[in-house]
Amino acid sequence: MADTLTITDDRTGKQVTVPIVDGVFASSALRELDPNLRMYDPAYLSTAACASSITYLDGDAGILRYRGYPIEQLAEKSSFLEVAYLLLKGHLPTTAQLEQWTHDVTHHTMIHENMRKRFVDGFHYDAHPMGMFISAVAALGTFYNDAKDVFDADSRDKQIMRLIAKVPTIAAMTYRFSCGLPFVLPNNGLGYAQNFLNMMYRIGEDYSVNPVLARALDVLFILHADHEQNCGTTAMRVVTSSNADPYSATAAAAAALYGPLHGGANEAVIHMLTEIGSIDRVPAFIESVKRGEGRLMGFGHRVYKNFDPRATIIKRTAYEVFEVTGKNPLLDVALKLEEVALQDDYFVSRKLYPNVDFYSGLIYQALGFPTDMFTVLFAIPRTAGWLAHAVELLGDKDQKISRPRQWYTGSDARDYVDIARR
Ligand code: CMC
Repeated sequence: MADTLTITDDRTGKQVTVPIVDGVFASSALRELDPNLRMYDPAYLSTAACASSITYLDGDAGILRYRGYPIEQLAEKSSFLEVAYLLLKGHLPTTAQLEQWTHDVTHHTMIHENMRKRFVDGFHYDAHPMGMFISAVAALGTFYNDAKDVFDADSRDKQIMRLIAKVPTIAAMTYRFSCGLPFVLPNNGLGYAQNFLNMMYRIGEDYSVNPVLARALDVLFILHADHEQNCGTTAMRVVTSSNADPYSATAAAAAALYGPLHGGANEAVIHMLTEIGSIDRVPAFIESVKRGEGRLMGFGHRVYKNFDPRATIIKRTAYEVFEVTGKNPLLDVALKLEEVALQDDYFVSRKLYPNVDFYSGLIYQALGFPTDMFTVLFAIPRTAGWLAHAVELLGDKDQKISRPRQWYTGSDARDYVDIARR
């Protein structure tokens, strides 16, 4: 059987044959048939917009790998900073490389005082942390004029390191602002997740980060670090394709992540579980979802149609966290929802399984994070993935500025009508 695809334009009888490599064919072949022919593919369901060597995902088999390494092994053996290095550089670091990278990130966690005093302090008292996060990341770029030199590898590496180092500081700052608490400076003696927890929760001298909880957060960071061409990463690539600086592109990606169908889902899960309230109300809730009165948040995925491997790891991590914090009372509702949904033909036939967000919110809540911080917690590690994609795109000779075509369905040409005659 030939690994080719032959397309015939029945209007003209013209034919083109293209190779299929790894299940992909180059749609540029269509231009050979007719330069004005367009493929209509809303939401890119059948479109590979780029070639990428960062993350491999097989939704049917429930496989997720970063640079070839299975997510299960990384979650068990690695650390978030090592994973960030792996995503960005394509290989695991040596001891010396990891030490240098950790040192660099750790020593760039401070943000300019004006960011807090003049910028963050200007937000309304009840501003959503994610709105503040997006704006603060974009504003951060104004402090580094060399960020515009996106083809200068040294400058680009510096911005990447700054962004990865500073996003936890910005995130903690938005939280402290929401609570009216004084900002806690980064502590260079702490690890990445530890330092973040310290900036979040320290009040006075008597706070020490529980290592089990810090490790759980680090694992969550690993699981969220990249997920190939999702909505946020696509936004990152589209904005980077115009050669915008990495701060602006990261802010755009974070804005895409903010929506409840994407990174906002973990927050929506907690609202849903709280609203359901008790396990006896689960069946009625499931019925309302089946009637189309809402979605079962934390269920379903565009790509995973079997199980989300991240959900399996997160469920395990949740129990480790609850050993320290005590059980989250919403866990029973979540477990019951999962049990009922997985036996119901509506969910089974549509291949709807728990995704990464189904249990992550329960852990975040047990760690003391308010629900409106959840998407920010997703954005912190995803920054590493976004930046890896930005670097890949800038080095990809096949790429140009993103500019999809459209299928125009509007009115034909018509004459302007004076307002008095409408
Ligand atoms: N609850 C109930 N029904 C659902 C759900 C759900 N969570 N998800 C999909 N469906 C139904 C949908 O109504 C449709 O049914 P029908 O064929 O009868 O019209 C069918 O399943 C296919 O849904 P779809 O909207 O075409 O699927 P999609 O691939 O476009 O959407 C999704 C994927 C994740 C947006 C969707 O499953 C969803 O809204 N889930 C809830 C939100 C959520 O948990 N999002 C987090 C995703 S994981 C984190 C991330 O990577 O961002």
